[in-house]
Amino acid sequence: MKNILVTGCCGYIGSHTCVYLLQENYNVIGLDNFSNSKREVLDKITIITGKKIKFYECDMLDRDGLNRIFNDNKIDLVIDFAAYKAVGDSVINPVKYYINNVSSVLTLLDVMKDHNVKSLIFSSSATVYGIPKVVPINEECETGFTTNPYGTSKYYVENILNDLYKSDNNWSICIFRYFNPIGAHPSGLIGDEPNGIPANLMPYILKVASREFEFLNIFGNDYDTVDGTGVRDYIHIIDLSKAHICGIKKLEKEKSGFYIYNLGTGIGYSVLEIVKIFEKVNKVEIPIKIANRRDGDISICYADSTKAKNELNWKAIYSLEDMCRDSYNFMINNKNNF
Ligand code: WQD
Repeated sequence: MKNILVTGCCGYIGSHTCVYLLQENYNVIGLDNFSNSKREVLDKITIITGKKIKFYECDMLDRDGLNRIFNDNKIDLVIDFAAYKAVGDSVINPVKYYINNVSSVLTLLDVMKDHNVKSLIFSSSATVYGIPKVVPINEECETGFTTNPYGTSKYYVENILNDLYKSDNNWSICIFRYFNPIGAHPSGLIGDEPNGIPANLMPYILKVASREFEFLNIFGNDYDTVDGTGVRDYIHIIDLSKAHICGIKKLEKEKSGFYIYNLGTGIGYSVLEIVKIFEKVNKVEIPIKIANRRDGDISICYADSTKAKNELNWKAIYSLEDMCRDSYNFMINNKNNF
């Protein structure tokens, strides 16, 4: 498998994955509609790797646009990142999330089938587990009791992919359930830079570190956790991106199949712990205010990623200190955007 189509290639996870795909000598065809990313990311990927992505500006709901990409290129495998991903926003705008995160995948799958391309890596999320009954969470844990439309949209697509594989065992499908990706490429050229006011924790902390915002609102300190604030499994974007190379190799080796893997470190950190480590590593103060809980949030969530270790020979290696340092370095190198 040489020719990889990456949807959402200019996004946070997509752009980092493209860097490692190019460095592993894959040919990368990319599409993005810039709804939550910037075109300049393409040049930065080229600066980092010395290689270019064959890029198409295209919305995943644009069937003709997708057909053109598959007619122009012999695609061997698709990595589908293109989706909205903010929990709070999804509670306010559910239909926008179901159209963008579910309908677009249905269009993609139909076009893939028309072109007999049946290898897919799908970016899902730990939010499909909803309020976990046990932690750490493994892939056998129950899914579906999602607490927000973002997580529900990912849960729906996982079921669509399962039905698709049951209807045609020639498909090769790998679902990655990401926990909380943070950090940035050490070059400081690419990172998590959502348009507008950040919904996710680390991009918001970076806005406070740049003094664009005065303080961080901590959404609730009355959860049943180590210090009352939400606990999550933060994973370096480099570790997460490299897992996709392992996923390609797995699908190449197995020829077909349906696989699900948690991508996390297996360690949970609270919001207050993140703030403290960020301040220590970067010698910068992050003022905080305790605010009300955010709708759709859960108390605690972290991964058991043993299955990915055993079946993909993949393991997260970067520390929370690395994640905080690289995130801050990205902000410093992109001051005008913060
Ligand atoms: C983390 C913790 C908040 C912002 C998301 C989505 C999805 C996924 C990444 C890929 C929670 C707290 C946050 C703030 C805060 N991406 N927080 N103040 O909601 O765990 O999940 O993870 O799949 O985007 O599933 O991530 O970064 O929004 O929140 O206190 O300004 O930080 O309450 O405890 P989340 P998050």
